[in-house]
Amino acid sequence: MMSMTCHNLDFGTRVLDLVAVGSSSNASIERHSVKNHGKGFTSKVYGARRMACCRQNISRTRAFSTNTSEALLDGVGERTEPVLDLKKEVKSPISLANLFEVVADDLQTLNQNLRSIVGAENPVLMSAAEQIFGAGGKRIRPALVFLVSRATAELAGLKDLTTKHRRLAEIIEMIHTASLIHDDVLDESDMRRGKETVHQLYGTRVAVLAGDFMFAQSSWYLANLENIEVIKLISQVIKDFASGEIKQASSLFDCDVELEEYLLKSFYKTASLIAASTKGAAIFSGADRSITEQMYEFGKNLGLAFQVVDDILDFTQSAEQLGKPAGSDLAKGNLTAPVIFALEKEPKLREIIESEFCDTGSLDEAIELVKQCGGIERAQELAKEKADLAIKSLQCLPPSNFRLALQDMVMFNLERID
Ligand code: IPE
Ligand code: IPE
Ligand code: MG
Ligand code: MG
Repeated sequence: MMSMTCHNLDFGTRVLDLVAVGSSSNASIERHSVKNHGKGFTSKVYGARRMACCRQNISRTRAFSTNTSEALLDGVGERTEPVLDLKKEVKSPISLANLFEVVADDLQTLNQNLRSIVGAENPVLMSAAEQIFGAGGKRIRPALVFLVSRATAELAGLKDLTTKHRRLAEIIEMIHTASLIHDDVLDESDMRRGKETVHQLYGTRVAVLAGDFMFAQSSWYLANLENIEVIKLISQVIKDFASGEIKQASSLFDCDVELEEYLLKSFYKTASLIAASTKGAAIFSGADRSITEQMYEFGKNLGLAFQVVDDILDFTQSAEQLGKPAGSDLAKGNLTAPVIFALEKEPKLREIIESEFCDTGSLDEAIELVKQCGGIERAQELAKEKADLAIKSLQCLPPSNFRLALQDMVMFNLERID
């Protein structure tokens, strides 16, 4: 169970060994201080720089680097040429429907299967699952599984997707959905996907059980895939999700939180699942290790960019657009990239946050300060840097419509904040 409201739990400073992250098989964990490691990065200048940058020498931080926090800061604050000019690449706004067109049939089958595999064992859990599956969702993760599966299947000479590819996509969406149900309990969010959350409708106990049930159900299907590499990869993700939520819960209202810790938390909560989706898909296509590792890097950087964008949208979109209340991250003390950058510029912001918004109007004042001192723009830069790294990892795939769609997915994410 993951319900907790602690503010300052000391869970230590765990940093993953990237060999374990990349291959996810040994999952060895190295302990060292995250805090000291990140000093200096957050003070680098973003504002005057070009729109996207990434480092030319990426070999140091690829899958075989042994330092994840460093790898998560990959591309941050460095002045090298981007692999693509992300700005120039944008032609017309990308829609998810267009982007998913090449895997539309796969997604339709997925939607039908999802409902049946949640199981009809308990009517209450069934309605809870219906509530969240029925509420929609963009289906980005299964679409990524299908796109990478198809892009790499061509490489491996496969004519069509296998049952394992499809089951992987279902498992991934189930894990994502379970994590949302638990996340809403922890964030005390009443709305998700424009509808009432499971815990709002059925209470916290049902929401915790429904999430657990879905995690367990996905583990069962995962075991039945009988691929030990994928089993290790995905079970690590479920553990990472809990680590991310614990990390977040233990640093609420902590104005000393650093960019590196934020990125690590974002990796645990979000990027780990996306990286496992793209790597798992390539594994089931029988792709070489070098390709599966690149697909992991692609998913990881796309996932980080995705979380940074989600965190920006929490400041810039209305409740209607978000399908949940706006500004709630800051209100709950979850200090995300825009705030971390703004805190460097505006000491008054610290005071307001540390007071936990006890004065009327102080939350609005804090949101204004974040916007005024460039927090949003610098977070945009960060998202672009991660996006550029993601696109770089796609270069190992042969040109195809699927590769193009993967590239568009990266651009689509960035366009959400344009
Ligand atoms: C929301 O993910 C949670 C984050 C990782 C930011 P999505 O935006 O993919 O959620 P749905 O599935 O479309 O609702
Ligand atoms: C991502 O974080 C959620 C999960 C990975 C479960 P958020 O807390 O930002 O997600 P939203 O904003 O509630 O969708
Ligand atoms: Mg949340
Ligand atoms: Mg969010």
